[in-house]
Amino acid sequence: MTVLLLGGGGREHAMGWSLARSGARVVSMPGNPGLASIGPTTGGSPADPLDVRNAVAAVGADYVLIGPEAPLAAGVADALRTAGVPVVGPGRSAARLESSKAFAKKVMESAGVATGGSAVFDRPGTAREHLAALPGPFVVKADGLAAGKGVLVSDDRSEAGSWIDRCFDGEFGRAGDHVVIEEFLEGPEVSVFALCDGLTAIPFGHARDHKRLADGDMGPNTGGMGCYSPIPDAPGGLIDDTMSQVVAPILQTMADWGTPFSGFLYTGLVLTADGPKVLEFNVRMGDPDTQVVLPLLETPFHELMGRAASGDLSGADAVFSGEFAVDVVLAAHGYPASPRTGDPIAGLDRVVGIAGAAVFHAGTAREGDDVITVGGRVVNVVGTGPTLADARSKAYEAAAVIDFAGKQMRTDIGGVTK
Ligand code: GLY
Repeated sequence: MTVLLLGGGGREHAMGWSLARSGARVVSMPGNPGLASIGPTTGGSPADPLDVRNAVAAVGADYVLIGPEAPLAAGVADALRTAGVPVVGPGRSAARLESSKAFAKKVMESAGVATGGSAVFDRPGTAREHLAALPGPFVVKADGLAAGKGVLVSDDRSEAGSWIDRCFDGEFGRAGDHVVIEEFLEGPEVSVFALCDGLTAIPFGHARDHKRLADGDMGPNTGGMGCYSPIPDAPGGLIDDTMSQVVAPILQTMADWGTPFSGFLYTGLVLTADGPKVLEFNVRMGDPDTQVVLPLLETPFHELMGRAASGDLSGADAVFSGEFAVDVVLAAHGYPASPRTGDPIAGLDRVVGIAGAAVFHAGTAREGDDVITVGGRVVNVVGTGPTLADARSKAYEAAAVIDFAGKQMRTDIGGVTK
């Protein structure tokens, strides 16, 4: 069985590794040097439906697994389904759960799902008037996809006001045509994943990521500097409650509205004093969350993906080992503001000798005999073990043997709550 895997980051390397471990032939588009060690890579744009359909035919793919959000928002899953190609991932309309924060709030309201209060604006004046009447902290978001850059959380009312202007002035493109001002939710965050097929959903693990650049959750926001799973402080019943009180009503509402949801539903929760509330949805697995969930999965990933792609999840189950996994991201010099590229990476092959550790490539490329940095988050170093402390120590042992000029990493992944 051949799988065409769309994407080329750490999440996709972990997916390719897990697919190959469960017996699939994996072709990645565009892939990365890590994925190239698993199977062939192919050119073309993962967000171009025609390129993807051509690649399906060229490589003889039995199904397509879509990693990132951009192809989903571009309607690649719709084009594949129309052509009769099985695919894991929602169509464009259902992908609006991630590509429009205002839409997600509307669905949650209709489904009766606990979330923070919010208001949506299409011009700066009314947004600023609303802001003036709110207590802080202030949460101002560009409505659409802005590569994680369109969100401001601040105690400073004037900074929040400027953020409204920056959204409407086009800094985030069309994503800022509407602005969502949300209630600030206070408490530790947890991400819960479900694999869905219309009205059927199965739990697919949970994780906590560390989004700030520096130790102690300080410094600028990033795409994620590390992650761990499972979370020892997760309240009892969190997964069952999320499935029954969030995932099931959301799937029912999406089906009722004529846009049934299939693929991965990522529920970002804040564990507030009033109970868990939904912060956001993503319509894909997380990055770096995937890199800690998949090493713990015992059910063959390829089997689950094949069933999800053909809409046959009823009776399926994702079984996890009960161990822990910790992912430490090694980031490039200058990340997140202006990551430097072109630095040769040493020591990648030395991780093979460390039992319980693995490396997933993200922003890397091959140049001659070298692997070099080409993105902000360069590699993910993952450790697994019977306790969180064991998994952390494996991850940091492996992180220490990989080196490149300007390497940045946090030293407290898996050791703080947020
Ligand atoms: N873990 C954050 C994300 O994937 O968006």
